[in-house]
Amino acid sequence: MCADIDTEAENAHVQWAIQHKDDDIEAEQYSSTRLATNYSETPFVNDYSVNNIVGSTSQSDNSIFRICCIGAGYVGGPTCAVIASKCPNIHVTVVDVSAERIAAWNSDSLPIFEPALDEIVRKIRNHNLFFSTDTDKAIQEADLIFISVNTPTKSYGFGTGRAADLRYVEEAARQIAHIATNDKIVVEKSTVPVKACESIKTILKTNKRRGVNYQVLSNPEFLAEGSAIHDLLAPDRILIGGDETIEGSLAIKRLSWVYEHWIPKEKILTTNTWSSELSKLAANAFLAQRISSINSISAVCEATGASVDEVAKAVGLDSRIGSKFLNASIGFGGSCFQKDIYNLIYLAESLKLEPVAQYWLQVIKINDWQRERFAQMIVQNLFGSVSGKKIAIFGFAFKKDTADTRESSSIYVCRYLIAEGASLHIYDPKVSSDRIFLDLSEQIGTSERELSNHVQIANEPYEAAKNSHAIVVCTEWDEFMKLDYQLIYSTMEKPSYIFDGRLILDHDHLMSIGFNVFCIGKKPAKNPFSNQSPL
Ligand code: NAI
Repeated sequence: MCADIDTEAENAHVQWAIQHKDDDIEAEQYSSTRLATNYSETPFVNDYSVNNIVGSTSQSDNSIFRICCIGAGYVGGPTCAVIASKCPNIHVTVVDVSAERIAAWNSDSLPIFEPALDEIVRKIRNHNLFFSTDTDKAIQEADLIFISVNTPTKSYGFGTGRAADLRYVEEAARQIAHIATNDKIVVEKSTVPVKACESIKTILKTNKRRGVNYQVLSNPEFLAEGSAIHDLLAPDRILIGGDETIEGSLAIKRLSWVYEHWIPKEKILTTNTWSSELSKLAANAFLAQRISSINSISAVCEATGASVDEVAKAVGLDSRIGSKFLNASIGFGGSCFQKDIYNLIYLAESLKLEPVAQYWLQVIKINDWQRERFAQMIVQNLFGSVSGKKIAIFGFAFKKDTADTRESSSIYVCRYLIAEGASLHIYDPKVSSDRIFLDLSEQIGTSERELSNHVQIANEPYEAAKNSHAIVVCTEWDEFMKLDYQLIYSTMEKPSYIFDGRLILDHDHLMSIGFNVFCIGKKPAKNPFSNQSPL
């Protein structure tokens, strides 16, 4: 009975789609005219009943009236803030299981730091952007639902350390199927393995309520933390994958309509679902591969006298290669690159494509090696021992302009130095002391109490550097370039060392002050101003 009704509803929907397929252009024009003229009469503001009626007729054009985003993290929060700011007629609700996170989104202290995010949220929060823990209500009211939950690497069972853990995606899909009583477009925004859309579809189809139809789209997010708002406002492309059916293409059009409020149509790329899913994994793998490529060359530079800056510039000026993502460093971090490459490796292994898996595994191995190499460089040049020595760590976030520390290279460098007995004084302008202790205790497997014998948190860089033997730059925060290193030098133990893991400092100037300077990708120069030659 249920199946019959479903089939009838599906047929009716397909018939509707066939009848209306020639109306698309008109519908689009109609909807954008309405958007332009109707802002003052926004139906959703404080009037759910009116909006529900409007929402139920929304199939007659490409418009979307209500969006729900499941997952208020680094992707869900900023993405929805930008959508809501650019689409004042769309009511956007971001939901999360974490009441604490939602409370922070509703407070003056947002749970994540991104340049320009605060201003946007402050302007539109509680106008057409809402943060809530009432997931059921938001699902029920939405025309379109983004699934933007975390997809970490599996830490148990089959595929441990490789496969993506899709349990949160599955939970979200089951909740949608359980709650929704009218048609929804479900958009997979989380980064997932190829064919995850199929799984979402199966869950929705086999659990759905009578008469409810779903279209599932893949719309991976390409934003980078630290420049998320910029990336969302002016993306290189928007990628939407969907079913190659009339209904699928209508759903794509409706999601596309949302983005067309501020993104030129030619930047919106549509593909089949699998291409979209794989493109996200491939894009992250290519970006990480460039970092590992230049880092592998940095090791050759240190051994030969070539300078990695010069090599990167010469290589990057080739228009076939380009200059971006060629900065040598202590390695990539962040929640995505490693996880997504492992995801790709797992896919290749599952498809019995072992050489493909091995190829991408090397990208991660070089990254691990780079972190270790840097820590060894520090120990070796501090006369072979850092035991009991105070070392200032500048930067704990995985990159500048974010407080995110997930997979930060700084964590690994600190771990190596703590294992050698160093006393670390860590300063980061955005990362909290609690976060640093939590990350290190998880990484090292020791209690935070035990850790406090080796780690102290400084409130500012001068305090971290005072009486230290060495400064280690782990994150490329702009403020590290502007410090008074003459003053810092005067407060440090002698000989004083700087290890620049991000190649951001003026090494000639530092050497003229008297520092011994070591960095990734350059053979250490003998400091003509110092008696201390590098080992
Ligand atoms: P996150 O961990 O910051 O946020 C995910 C949120 O989802 C958490 O707050 C969690 O409580 C919530 N959540 C989990 N299950 C839920 C459920 N059933 N109902 C409601 N809320 C639920 O993760 P982030 O960084 O935002 O990443 C999300 C996805 O986007 C991941 O797949 C990631 O790979 C991808 N991505 C992340 C980027 C980044 O820079 N962080 C960039 C591009 C893609």
